[in-house]
Amino acid sequence: MRLSSRAEAASESATLRLSAVAARLRAGGREVLSLLEGEPDLPAPSKVLEATRRALSRGLTRYSDAAGLPELRALISRKLATRNGIAAAPEDILVTNGAKQALYDALQTICGPGDEVLIPSPYWVSFPESVRLAGAKPVFVATRAHQLDVDAVARAVTPRTRAIIINSPNNPTGAVYPAAALRALARLAARRDLLIVSDEAYEDFAYDGAAHLSVAALGAARRTITIQTFSKSYSMTGFRVGFLAAPPEIARAARRLHGHITGNVCTFAQHGAIAALGLGRGELERRRAVYQKRRDLAYALASRGFDCVKPRGGLFVFADARRHLGGHIKDAEGLAEHLLHKAGVSVVPGSACGMEGFLRFSFTSPEPVLREAFARIEAAL
Ligand SMILES: Cc1ncc(COP(=O)(O)O)c(C=O)c1O
Repeated sequence: MRLSSRAEAASESATLRLSAVAARLRAGGREVLSLLEGEPDLPAPSKVLEATRRALSRGLTRYSDAAGLPELRALISRKLATRNGIAAAPEDILVTNGAKQALYDALQTICGPGDEVLIPSPYWVSFPESVRLAGAKPVFVATRAHQLDVDAVARAVTPRTRAIIINSPNNPTGAVYPAAALRALARLAARRDLLIVSDEAYEDFAYDGAAHLSVAALGAARRTITIQTFSKSYSMTGFRVGFLAAPPEIARAARRLHGHITGNVCTFAQHGAIAALGLGRGELERRRAVYQKRRDLAYALASRGFDCVKPRGGLFVFADARRHLGGHIKDAEGLAEHLLHKAGVSVVPGSACGMEGFLRFSFTSPEPVLREAFARIEAAL
């Protein structure tokens, strides 16, 4: 059958493919431990669940405002102002099916054929595909010790460059970009007329006193699309509620597209998100502290067999595995397959994130699972 060139060209998400292999092994009776997904294992807050159930019992199951419930957008606007230092009116906010759709909407709105979009590498697997789905070309820019290298970004800018996608705290590296780098990027963006797409999915997972900062609050407000989500901060991955906040002209256009792509995000899930925003910092701090402890453990265990930079944020340790390559294991993908079949542990090969020779270990599992998984990995190497 003839399919579109777009569908033919889209590569399968490596994380989804490896999770499917792990699921097949599990179905065959194998116990597979997962260090694969960036999905927080803590339950969603009980107040979020209650609010969602209440919305269902009140019959709030119909279409609603395609841009997002006005009450939710008002709360997001306040949250952006108080926690992130971003001034965004409710009409400049678009509620989306997770950060993933916010990214899709943003790129469909700002770029197309002939445009280039810069992506610091390594990167989250969906960035390049989302750029390609908009018809534009992803251009990868090397990072330095996992940090944003603004000089390298400047060198990669051409007359065709439309935007740059940044992600701090970073998936897969755990890097948290400091204010100086974000300010330098904001200045470069102004000089070269670039837009910035800032994926802040892990904003509430910064460790050791590192602070998550939004580039929109550091001089790039008029050219930044900020993307955030309820998925990670509140363990609401299945709710599919995220959002973007953008300058008015972009927000208006994104809203028009979004109305055709999906219409409103699940109405009762948005009521869960409203409850989440009522929870305050205590809930977020408790969750952050759990993952900081897990980060400590995963980093210590991973460092026994791999060279790792300590992640200052996010939910992953990104490990240099090159000393284990050679012989019958040629690359990171081969090593990930080996660990899956020999050790029964699923991990993401760095090649899926644009960095050969590395593995990404998620630390979203409880401590006993982390200990067992790394013991198995050590035995299999
Ligand atoms: C950097 C990054 N952005 C966005 C997402 C997707 O988040 P959501 O569940 O809100 O679509 C993820 C999830 O893995 C991610 O790692």
